[in-house]
Amino acid sequence: MPRFLFLLICVALSIDILNGVRILGLFPEQGDALSHNSSVSLSDHWTNQCMQMFLAAISLSNRYEIYVGGQHINYTILNTNIESNGFAELELVCRTMCNRTGSDIVGVVGPASSTKVRYLGPFAARIHLPLISYAATNADLDDTYNYATFYRTIPSDTLLAEAIVQLFTFFSWTSCIIIVGKDDYGYGGLKILSEVYHSDLSIQDRLIFDLRLDKFHANLTETLEKSRSRIVLVWACQNSTTRIIHHALTNGLIGGNYVWIMTSKIDFNVFKQYDLTKLAGVLAVVHIIGNSSTSGVNETLQKEAFDAWRNLSYEKKKVPEQLSDVSPFAMYTFDATWALIQALNKSSIDKKSPSMYKASSCFDSLLQNYTTYFDYLQTTRFFGVSGIVDFSKNDLNENNHGGMYVLYSVQSKTNHKRKEVINKEIMTWHETSHSWTNYTNPDKLNITWPRNPIGKVPTDYPQLQVLDICNLLIGNNTAVIMYQSIAYWTWSQHLRILVIEAPPFVIIHNFSNQGHFPNNINNVEHNSFRCEPLKTTNPSILIYGFVPDLIRLLQSQMHFNFTIDVANLSTNYHSLVALVANDNRQYDIILSDIRITSSRLLKVDFSTPYHENTFRIISRSNPYSTSFSLFSCFNPFTWDVWAAIFAIIIYSGFIIYIFERHNIKIEHCESEFKSILIGICHAMTSILIMNGDIRLSTNSSRITVLGLYALGIILVATYTANLSSFLTLNRSQATISGIDDIKNGRLPFSRIGIVTNSAVSDYYIQNISTEYHALSTIEEMYSRLLDHTIDASIWDSSVLEYAVNNYYCDKLIIAGVGFVKSSFAIVLPKNWLYKRDLDLHILALRETQKLESLENAWLRHRTCPSSSSSSANHENKEDSSKTETFSLDVLGGLFLTFLITTAIAFCFHLWHCRVAIINGFRQTKKRMHLSTIQMTIKS
Ligand SMILES: *[C@@H]1O[C@H](CO)[C@@H](O)[C@H](O)[C@H]1NC(C)=O
Ligand SMILES: *[C@@H]1O[C@H](CO)[C@@H](O)[C@H](O)[C@H]1NC(C)=O
Ligand SMILES: *[C@@H]1O[C@H](CO)[C@@H](O)[C@H](O)[C@H]1NC(C)=O
Ligand SMILES: *[C@@H]1O[C@H](CO)[C@@H](O)[C@H](O)[C@H]1NC(C)=O
Ligand SMILES: *[C@@H]1O[C@H](CO)[C@@H](O)[C@H](O)[C@H]1NC(C)=O
Ligand SMILES: *[C@@H]1O[C@H](CO)[C@@H](O)[C@H](O)[C@H]1NC(C)=O
Repeated sequence: MPRFLFLLICVALSIDILNGVRILGLFPEQGDALSHNSSVSLSDHWTNQCMQMFLAAISLSNRYEIYVGGQHINYTILNTNIESNGFAELELVCRTMCNRTGSDIVGVVGPASSTKVRYLGPFAARIHLPLISYAATNADLDDTYNYATFYRTIPSDTLLAEAIVQLFTFFSWTSCIIIVGKDDYGYGGLKILSEVYHSDLSIQDRLIFDLRLDKFHANLTETLEKSRSRIVLVWACQNSTTRIIHHALTNGLIGGNYVWIMTSKIDFNVFKQYDLTKLAGVLAVVHIIGNSSTSGVNETLQKEAFDAWRNLSYEKKKVPEQLSDVSPFAMYTFDATWALIQALNKSSIDKKSPSMYKASSCFDSLLQNYTTYFDYLQTTRFFGVSGIVDFSKNDLNENNHGGMYVLYSVQSKTNHKRKEVINKEIMTWHETSHSWTNYTNPDKLNITWPRNPIGKVPTDYPQLQVLDICNLLIGNNTAVIMYQSIAYWTWSQHLRILVIEAPPFVIIHNFSNQGHFPNNINNVEHNSFRCEPLKTTNPSILIYGFVPDLIRLLQSQMHFNFTIDVANLSTNYHSLVALVANDNRQYDIILSDIRITSSRLLKVDFSTPYHENTFRIISRSNPYSTSFSLFSCFNPFTWDVWAAIFAIIIYSGFIIYIFERHNIKIEHCESEFKSILIGICHAMTSILIMNGDIRLSTNSSRITVLGLYALGIILVATYTANLSSFLTLNRSQATISGIDDIKNGRLPFSRIGIVTNSAVSDYYIQNISTEYHALSTIEEMYSRLLDHTIDASIWDSSVLEYAVNNYYCDKLIIAGVGFVKSSFAIVLPKNWLYKRDLDLHILALRETQKLESLENAWLRHRTCPSSSSSSANHENKEDSSKTETFSLDVLGGLFLTFLITTAIAFCFHLWHCRVAIINGFRQTKKRMHLSTIQMTIKS
């Protein structure tokens, strides 16, 4: 209670001693780390400019005769130490505020950095003192709960982040390495990018740079080289950025593989003349003040402000000649001060101007009667000297302050025979349109890219490419300057490739001993396809085939250097793959007939497949042996077809006998049995010889014989065709016809050879059996098949087909259809940097059909005479082999048709003989009648 009374008294007291108001200006001492302006001459320093603009605003308010409590608005400038944290500012503000000799402090312009706002902001919010900063950009300060009385005239870093992210989108980049300064500004940028824009821009790696210690938290060279991005975004204040670029330059990381983007212009003065030329191509996104049309700047006010500045300064030199020489911070300072003055003016007109209650303890002090003043502050919206000033925090739609960013590119130019570097303006970003304006083609921008001086935008992922010096030489002047520094760039990618012999993918020509396979180089030389062997690390070994041609194709597109090693043929495929899984690996990629399998994918990565393949079974061919038999000529038809043919012959014999009974009897007067035989002979000759020289007298038998002719023609044709194909097929039929035969155990498992530690052995063990004849190499597989140790084996179809078509013409054959489809791909180390580059180029090869022509050239190649049936289209023949013999189901219709024909003939016969039949019928009836009469008489 007494405390409350005391408070009341104090309030009364403070109103009594109201002696005008003043605005506090907080400015750092000159030479702050935040400096964005490279001119460092003392009077031109940006903090000095800020102070001058602060004073100009105060003096302008005096000229406009703005009175608060009957007095002019006064000011106090506090110079703060840059090195200090925000606590020193807090103390300074406190002491100044509680000094009873001065007028009331009703607002603060400043502080200059976000770190300091973190100390001052909560305190100011507690005593209701408005803070308007001209330089604190951290996005955290938008939090109205902790910083209720904090405003700023400078756009927050969110806007810069948006501009940068859109720049990445414009250049089709999606990833970056970020280097941030170890301060509020750097961490703030990292936070926005990773929280707000994580879906647009993926930060692959981050580095923290400590300006005080002048070092990175991790090794710069290593981090950059191991990163999957090649775009380096430096988010740091000017001094840090300059140091970071300096470090990068000494490590040879500027230019070459990397694109550098900074958020502030660097200070060229700290670099040596020779180094400067190497900076060409470095980009910077920098905030600038626009003009009335682009940013809503009130040019009248701007002119008045500069007039006031000129009047203030005793040395006229201090006022910059050009608008561009004025630091943006100075403009923001003016607007901050002007916003406070306007709110004070309006509340004073309402006669509700605030006043400061000064307690002895700074924390007990309070700004009084602040409601109206704050209402006016919150609704502040005017056209200032930096753009639109708008403090309405919740109005998201109107949140447009006319912010503008410019993309600068460092370029060298020759001025009076002296090389110098400049920041060249490339394009601008406007807050009004939220886009980099008026540019559609990123390749047409006037940027000297470090890597592609011709103008193509570099990719954001690592590329294997080495620089083509010829490209540089045909470029312009800048390219020549870059060429001079080429020796300092260490970015030629050297690819160590490992291959293993596997024709037709890798065929080895060894000068010392003629290779492992029974091939010689002439073998392929008369192949019409170009065959240029590739050199390997062993001078006596050359390789050619599908893979060397693929390497050559990739090399011509990706421009890498490479060496090829040939693996020992006894290396099994699993250990071969494991060679790139080690940390201290000796090879970068392995290229051969290597399948992507799930177990391998755990250890290594694979590129996109370059070839699709299946497993097939290889076995010996055994011509004419097993299938020879006495009755093989019957094979084309099944037994029931033969039975049906026999039955038809008997049947038609009977029919013809019935039809021709009278005529034959009359002519030859022979027995009935004999005439039946004649009919049968007739039928047989019709079917087989198609030549009936027996005269037929009735129409019915003519129809029947016609039907027999037709049946005979079709049967003979079918039989002939079938028999020939049957015999051809028999010549080279394998003992087994497919993987099902192996699964069903038609061969003893011990007679099946499997190359161990390969994709085939994985498959075999998982799906068929754990029992097999273990082989160590494919070469062994062929020889074991030939020496009858094993009967069948499984391997990749392309390899087997090539071997059978070129080396083991009639000795080995491929049985059955392919199974277990999968893909061959290049084996890469896990998380290999250049995987994306490689994948894109392999896909491009496929899309341009170059892979297809390689496959046609190598995989379809055959040197065996084509009569051998073990060709690639063997599959189709195998498929139809099951229906090779024709059963009655297939031919049934034929017989049925013949039966219908004979039925018609029978009808004819009945019609023809109707008189005789009716007579016969009558006679029989009469006879029966007579016999019944006799019977009755007898009885
Ligand atoms: C920033 O650099 C300027 C000159 O390059 C120097 O005068 C100033 O002290 C530096 N600031 C800091 C914080 O290192
Ligand atoms: C501002 O305050 C100073 C003392 O801090 C005083 O000398 C000066 O006259 C004041 N100016 C106005 C315009 O009130
Ligand atoms: C108050 O300010 C005056 C000058 O404006 C200064 O001389 C005096 O020492 C200050 N008093 C305190 C307690 O800081
Ligand atoms: C960073 O790594 C590179 C190569 O890995 C090495 O040459 C350099 O000395 C390292 N730098 C530091 C500061 O450790
Ligand atoms: C520009 O500033 C002048 C001087 O303060 C003022 O009279 C004018 O209304 C302002 N213009 C706009 C569009 O705000
Ligand atoms: C300021 O507020 C007090 C009450 O807190 C009131 O008595 C006084 O009249 C107000 N002064 C003005 C100028 O509005």
